[in-house]
Amino acid sequence: MDVVTALQRQATACEDLGSPMYAELLRLLVDDYEVGGVTVEVLADYEDRSFGEAVALRLLGAVHGLVLSGTVPELAAFYPSVGGSWDPVLGWEAFEQVLRSRLGEVRSLLTQPPQTNEVGRSGALYGGLLRLVETLPLPVRLFEIGASAGLNLRADRYRYVADGTSYGPEDSPVVFDPAWSGPVPSVDLRIAERVGCDIAPVNPLTDDGALTLTSYVWPDMVDRLERLRGALVVARDVPADVRREDAVSFLRALELSEGHVTVVWHSIMWQYLRRPDRSAIEQRLEELGAQATPAAPLAHLSLEPHAVITHERGQDGWEYRIDLQTWPGGHKRSLGTASPHGQELLWNPS
Ligand SMILES: C[S@@+](CC[C@H](N)C(=O)[O-])C[C@H]1O[C@@H](n2cnc3c(N)ncnc32)[C@H](O)[C@@H]1O
Repeated sequence: MDVVTALQRQATACEDLGSPMYAELLRLLVDDYEVGGVTVEVLADYEDRSFGEAVALRLLGAVHGLVLSGTVPELAAFYPSVGGSWDPVLGWEAFEQVLRSRLGEVRSLLTQPPQTNEVGRSGALYGGLLRLVETLPLPVRLFEIGASAGLNLRADRYRYVADGTSYGPEDSPVVFDPAWSGPVPSVDLRIAERVGCDIAPVNPLTDDGALTLTSYVWPDMVDRLERLRGALVVARDVPADVRREDAVSFLRALELSEGHVTVVWHSIMWQYLRRPDRSAIEQRLEELGAQATPAAPLAHLSLEPHAVITHERGQDGWEYRIDLQTWPGGHKRSLGTASPHGQELLWNPS
């Protein structure tokens, strides 16, 4: 895909997902590119990449990282993530100036693919877990593939408020209110183990890791930033073991355990897997499922996009679905839907 189309498409996505600042900034980058401005130099070698390579988000993340590290105060004044306020005229001038003065640095940061860990998806995973434990009341061993920094492995340490009920610790710095619509049981949830894997894990306990994660959150999405900052605090108290490993080998080593429900979960990572890896994971889950017993059950819980197919229009967009499969038996259910960042969470009746 040519770079202008990629920037325009990302602008639309940012607009749809609630970042008017990035939508505007991306359109200004397109204008600058088309008149041969500094954006052409910044994006040299990136003129024709797949949308999945997320060149636009690499660039925005690179500059946001500079803002967060305090090295470009003239631009920080326009970034809500550090207390500034966006202005399309003066903000663009400052942004363009940073591209000019930090060209080499920005270009070297472009080589890094974006790395995010969206805490907003915790509600979908946590609510799914409560629905699971209602029917399988055992301590939980959590195994997350594509865990990034492992912030969602601490989902039970965040507070969720919905329909007059509060779930999770009252004093958590991460609060979802309202968290969702629809039925979610209040059950006694015990997490015995929290383990994850990722091919590019981020350590949320280091300054560098925290900066990386924050830089890829869109600066005018204040709720997402607040949740991330809260989750970084929780991570200091609640250990989770996130290994640098690909999902297939991680699951090959997984075994079930008597007296526990073993849960494999993931959010917005399936699209990054190669087709043979997806098949290998499905096959491994079936193998483990065949070994599952009522005393050592297995569950697969996910929040992932699924194509919406309509009779009239064929594929008509994407639905972000929360699915649960349990063994023994392999029973599959769709529990609900959410937006890509985990909001607008709607549970199906149980
Ligand atoms: C969009 S991020 C989502 C991270 C996290 N699950 C969330 O919802 O915030 C996708 C993650 O999948 C990881 N990933 C991609 N391919 C992988 C693989 N083969 N095995 C393990 N992790 C992988 C990436 O490194 C990245 O951290």
